[in-house]
Amino acid sequence: MVTVNQQRFPRKRTYLMCSPDYFAVEYAINPWMDVTTPVDRDLAVKQWDRLRETLVGLGHEVHLLTPEQGLPDMVYAANGGFVVDGSVYGARFKHEQRAAEAAAHHAFYEAQGWRFIAPSETNEGEGDFAYVPEAHGGLILAGHGFRTEIPAHAEAQEALGRPVVSLRLIDPRFYHLDVALAAIDDENIVYFPGAFSAASQRVLTQLFPDAVIADDEDAMAFGLNLVSDGANVVLNSEATRLAGKLKAAGYTPVPVELAELKKGGGSVKCCIAELRH
Ligand code: ARG
Repeated sequence: MVTVNQQRFPRKRTYLMCSPDYFAVEYAINPWMDVTTPVDRDLAVKQWDRLRETLVGLGHEVHLLTPEQGLPDMVYAANGGFVVDGSVYGARFKHEQRAAEAAAHHAFYEAQGWRFIAPSETNEGEGDFAYVPEAHGGLILAGHGFRTEIPAHAEAQEALGRPVVSLRLIDPRFYHLDVALAAIDDENIVYFPGAFSAASQRVLTQLFPDAVIADDEDAMAFGLNLVSDGANVVLNSEATRLAGKLKAAGYTPVPVELAELKKGGGSVKCCIAELRH
């Protein structure tokens, strides 16, 4: 018997990205970073550019943040803020090495006229916050355990006026929420249960009974670090198994190669912040 795939519909998105012009692995603040591994910056820029072109090719709008010398992780634009309903909850980085990135993001939002809420608590923007607009009327999922601190979850809820569900990350390889979980459309998510505490896994099962479940192989290939428009799922090309699962669920996987940026501990999603009006 043939099962008919559910039809998925894309929604146009607005994204923010930052070219890896100064990308390097000069310090190690997550288990993926190894300062002795050589980085090919030109290749990183090429791969990043392919990612940007892929998003534009899918009909999305991509804004660019100007990269700054001395901020090698600035390419991971997801970490600079979290935008919901036209409001921006600013980032406050855990590590000193990335602290100055927050001001660059702040300046961008200010110049573009977004409502900006400055944070008092440590949080790394969309690295640890995800938004599912049609789930329970609009739900923010928030990670803690490695970077973002729990008080920031409450602060984000006050700043954005949407319920925040706190989820505890327990595996240092999955130090940000966005390497373990992603929204695949306006209602549903995909995630790797092993990255979360047992209690947080129960919370996710309760809220998203129909979620696509990824395994450790998918997660280790940075497959969860994806961006979806509701139909097209842009993900790391090494995550072939997860691509198959998403295809079976009716989505269209769009693989991109980002091997150089993986050396910094990030992939597709880390390079992209979604600007939600
Ligand atoms: N080297 C960066 C860090 O450790 C990688 C950030 C990846 N970004 C993300 N959204 N997961 O902070």
